[in-house]
Amino acid sequence: MTDGSGPDDEPTETTSPRDDPGGSPAGVGRDPGGDPSSGLDGPLGALADAPPGQRDGGASGDGGTPDVTAAAAAVLRDRATEWFEPLYRDAAGDPSAVPWAGLAPHPHVVGWLDQPGLDVTGVDAVVVGCGLGDDAVELARRGCRVTAFDVSPTAVTWARERFARDLAGMPGTVDWQVADLLDLPAHLVGAFGLVVEVRTVQSLPATVRDRAMVGVSSLAGPGGWVLVSTLLATSEEAARSWQGPPWAQAPSELAAYRVGGLERVALEHPPADPSRPAMEVRLTLHRAGSASDVDSDVDAAGRAVPE
Ligand SMILES: C[S@@+](CC[C@H](N)C(=O)[O-])C[C@H]1O[C@@H](n2cnc3c(N)ncnc32)[C@H](O)[C@@H]1O
Repeated sequence: MTDGSGPDDEPTETTSPRDDPGGSPAGVGRDPGGDPSSGLDGPLGALADAPPGQRDGGASGDGGTPDVTAAAAAVLRDRATEWFEPLYRDAAGDPSAVPWAGLAPHPHVVGWLDQPGLDVTGVDAVVVGCGLGDDAVELARRGCRVTAFDVSPTAVTWARERFARDLAGMPGTVDWQVADLLDLPAHLVGAFGLVVEVRTVQSLPATVRDRAMVGVSSLAGPGGWVLVSTLLATSEEAARSWQGPPWAQAPSELAAYRVGGLERVALEHPPADPSRPAMEVRLTLHRAGSASDVDSDVDAAGRAVPE
């Protein structure tokens, strides 16, 4: 595994049907009134337009003063994710209508799990934004007890039905759930030894990405490992001018995982290419604490350690 501190880092696999950074078709999910990442002319504009009675989110707390912060946060959250469910619904069971559906586990996940000596049997794992479920089922195939969640009920039903028969013969299990990373149910927080996030944070606008990354972090229990595959801009400037979705994350943004209590163990990426404004990277992060089931098999540099 590569420590990722410089452009000479060992390249990682980058080709897969799922590697197209253009994860959604042009215009899909865009706010017709503006880029949702810009914040002010979109979601907050909608808030300003709301009748006064709907602006406070019902949480004034002092008998009259509207809680504008909570209401604004709720609007931003809704606007960031509301386009996924219609996309899956309109696909009507045709995966070719889901731009990111490669119908195979992501090579970043497979490569991580393939590290010599790594054994995830019996580990409680969670897949964030599971989509059509391939990464979740790969973890179950290797013996994990998987929770896979997505904000789109149609995606969750689709994934469950797609793999119902295959899962019956696997050593692990998958519990498919509808849940929102931006508003996580308490029972998921801190419950996992392995957290897998593939291309969900990059599909969310800047207005909510910090919250999303802190949410991903919060899923890891003490000693837990977090594996992220995301599109990373090669400069802050490239990130600022990026038109999504998906968005290329600014390098500085990744500090949100530290805010979430995680230590970065590795950042793997292809060889630096100045002509490319972004690249797919794999991040390995770790929460300090007593060992999770995975912990005993992986050293502090993110390398698998045979038992
Ligand atoms: C670009 S797709 C990637 C899907 C899957 N991880 C893959 O690589 O095929 C992003 C997924 O995240 C889901 N998603 C977006 N925002 C979410 C949220 N706040 N909570 C849970 N899932 C979310 C979407 O419905 C979608 O399935």
